[in-house]
Amino acid sequence: MMQSFDLYMPTRLLFGKGRIAELGPAIRNRGKKVLFVTGGNSIRRSGLHDRILGILADEGCSVAELAGVTPNPDISQVRRGVEICRAERIDLVLAAGGGSVLDAAKAVAAGALYPGDPWDLVSGKAPVQGHLPIFTVITLAATGSEFDDGGVISNAETREKLVIEGGLIPEVSIADPEYTLTVPPFQTAAGAADILSHVFEQYFVREGNTLSDGFCEAVMRTVVRNAPVAVADPGNYEARAELLAASSFGCCGLLSIGRTRSPWPCHAIEHELSAWYGITHGAGLAVITPAWMRLSLTRETAARFARYGEAVFGIREGSVEKRAGESIRRTGEFFRSIGLPSRLSEFGITDEHFGEMADHVLATRGDLHDAFVPLGREGILRVLRDSL
Ligand code: NZQ
Ligand code: ZN
Repeated sequence: MMQSFDLYMPTRLLFGKGRIAELGPAIRNRGKKVLFVTGGNSIRRSGLHDRILGILADEGCSVAELAGVTPNPDISQVRRGVEICRAERIDLVLAAGGGSVLDAAKAVAAGALYPGDPWDLVSGKAPVQGHLPIFTVITLAATGSEFDDGGVISNAETREKLVIEGGLIPEVSIADPEYTLTVPPFQTAAGAADILSHVFEQYFVREGNTLSDGFCEAVMRTVVRNAPVAVADPGNYEARAELLAASSFGCCGLLSIGRTRSPWPCHAIEHELSAWYGITHGAGLAVITPAWMRLSLTRETAARFARYGEAVFGIREGSVEKRAGESIRRTGEFFRSIGLPSRLSEFGITDEHFGEMADHVLATRGDLHDAFVPLGREGILRVLRDSL
């Protein structure tokens, strides 16, 4: 049954080659004091960093930079950005990089308008009530942060990794696939796993509908077809472009229209692994997803797994049960084929902290009872143990 839904995605997404030329007009009249948020050296090597500084200079902007944002960005980096915003009376935040850089920038943009510690906004102690204008230039096809309203921030002190919510929607995002040509094969593969997982989290729910089933299946086919090409041939523009466009739709709400709610169980579990071990988000998802699928395969859910297998891998032979099992096997095989790990032990992870992880999921996300197949504490532990 088609469920009611809200869809609000007002970001202007400027997709394609050379769209950076439109950054100047986009930020014009939005303020002159810019916080430029960046990660490591990738945008310096590619020349994007200089290009953006040139545009900001042409626009007469004064620029403060929050550089060195790391993967799985920590709240300490956000706090540093918020301090700069306050000291320099920043008007707008401009992020250029992968999802981590964009997420940190979003949290800074919210923290700048909040008088307390920005961790309050991540932990949910205080609601996000506003944010500085956010502009982004995305350089990695994965999170879709350039076209969604959230961010994910870690806290090394409390060993947590949580989603900051509250309408953190970029005003304009530039998505030029050329900027993604330099992404190394492992990050490309991890990004592909992240995009796929975003779809899985919305596709594998109790009730779907023809329209959003189709959106989801198109995105999954796009990733399965193009990720191997981009991994083997990083300079392939067409494959990069398909992946980047696919990634932008992951978390914007379009894929879940009219579907029953999902608590995003794989993300809930993977964020625990990243919080404890700092692993790459997409790689962690590649490991736990097949285990979660095996746990979720029941007589009631088999038809959906079989449908997925047919739509994405062309599996048509055998009974529904057989096709469902084969679809799950092919999912794991796909992740391995693009160079992703398949066991937590490959990261050196043991079961030592699984209990704490499961308890933290329950405390922060509830018991995942409304997942495709209800999980609860035992289900979370089973997924983790089956991934070892
Ligand atoms: O720091 P630099 O030098 O840029 O290097 C980065 C980083 O080492 C590199 N990279 C990025 N663009 C590149 C590049 N290298 C060469 N060429 C380029 N064009 O890639 C490495 C990983 O970057 P990161 O930003 O961490 O990757 P990703 O975009 O996958 O972001 C992952 C983070 O986003 C969160 C994840 O949990 C994780 O913290 N997520 C955010 C979501 C959202 N905002 O909606 C949803 C996701 O489910 C996810 O949880
Ligand atoms: Zn994700």
